[in-house]
Order: sequence, then C-alpha cells, then structure tokens
Amino acid sequence: MSNDLYDVIHRRRDVRAQFTGAPVPDAALARILSAAHAAPSVGLSQPWDFILVRDQTTRRAFFEHVQRERDTFAASLDPDAARRFARIKIDGVLESSLSVVVTYDPRRGGPAVLGRHAIADAGLYSVCLAIQNLWLAATAEDLGIGWVSFYREAFLRDLLHIPDTVRPVAWLCLGPVTHLETVPDLERHGWRRRTPLAEVVHRDRW
Ligand SMILES: Cc1cc2nc3c(=O)[nH]c(=O)nc-3n(C[C@H](O)[C@H](O)[C@H](O)COP(=O)(O)O)c2cc1C
Repeated sequence: MSNDLYDVIHRRRDVRAQFTGAPVPDAALARILSAAHAAPSVGLSQPWDFILVRDQTTRRAFFEHVQRERDTFAASLDPDAARRFARIKIDGVLESSLSVVVTYDPRRGGPAVLGRHAIADAGLYSVCLAIQNLWLAATAEDLGIGWVSFYREAFLRDLLHIPDTVRPVAWLCLGPVTHLETVPDLERHGWRRRTPLAEVVHRDRW
C-alpha cells in the first residue's frame, strides 16, 4: 500500500497568508484540473466548470467585495469573537497566482440525472468532490489552495458573466506557497479546534 495519498490528505491546508505569487506551471495546472474533472458525479453528470481568473482588475473587484462581506460578518459577532476574528486572514485573492472559480450547472446531463431524482443536492455534492480532488492534486504539486466563501453569489455571477442557471460554488486561490502550516489557521488563531474523530463516529445508530 502506498502512503502517498494519506500524506497528501493530511498535509493539505487552506492557505491565505503563505502565497508567494510565483507562476503556476501550465503542466501542473493541467494535471490539477484533470484530477478535478476525474471526480465522481451523480448520473455521470460532471456538472462543474472551472473559470481561471488571472485578470488583476477582476481579482481586485472580488477582493473588495470580500472585504465588505468580512465587515458584514464581523458586525454580527460578540466583542470577544470580533477581536479573535480581526486577527484572522480570510483570503489570499491578491497574493495568490491565480484563482479558480468552480461552478455548478444543474442542467448538465439532464433532464433525467440518474440518482438525483430524490436528492437535488447530489449535483452540488459532485461539484464539491471535484473541488476536493483539485485541492488534493494541488497539494501533491506542492501548491496551496485557499477557499473563499465571503461573497454573494449574485455578485460573483455578475462579475464573471456566469449564466443565471449556473451556480458559483467556490472561489479558490491557487499558487506556490512558502510552506503549508501543520495546524489549520482557525485553530492557530484560537477560533475553533478540530473535533476528535471518536466524537463523530456512531455505531449502528445516531
Ligand atoms: C466550503 C468552505 C468554505 C470556506 N471558506 C473560507 C473562507 O471564506 N475563508 C477562509 O479563510 N477559509 C475558508 N475555508 C477554509 C476553512 O476555514 C478550513 O478548511 C478549515 O479551517 C480547516 O482548515 P484546513 O483546511 O487548513 O484543514 C473554507 C472551507 C470550506 C470547505
């Protein structure tokens, strides 16, 4: 058995502060996207698209929107949480090399998507699996990924001309990093600790 996969899984981090801004080699980007596109999907619908965002003006506009959403979230916190949140960086939109926006098209593979008739969210689950493949492949390439969700879908749709029928699922910052931290940022900054596995494993019933 190879331990490589487990190594990558446990080495993977969400990156905000460690991007160097150096370019991502085309061949590495192709391998990462190919790994994402190899993900399982309900009814073989492969309902994802990947928008590679390099344009600085677009990234700056998104970054400013993220700052506004950060302020909105901060305003909802009690003073102690707000103090802790103030120390936490939530994106690397400007510092990373490029961004990959992953979207969900519920019409892909339709109208009869095999396995989605009872669980509409199965399409969205499929997109998340592509994102996880992408994230692990980037880690295997010694690159960092940072998922940014401080945005309104309507804003992002408008910014990137995404059709009304397609849903943006993730803005992923991508690029070379100085290093990957061994402890998640939110834990290092005292926001939340990881839950031990034993607390979430149930036997035979909830
Ligand atoms: C759906 C999703 C949305 C996330 N959104 C953000 C975000 O907006 N900003 C951020 O800094 N991290 C974001 N993260 C990263 C999480 O904070 C991170 O995965 C978690 O703290 C565990 O750390 P690790 O990924 O380094 O193990 C997001 C992660 C997921 C899965």
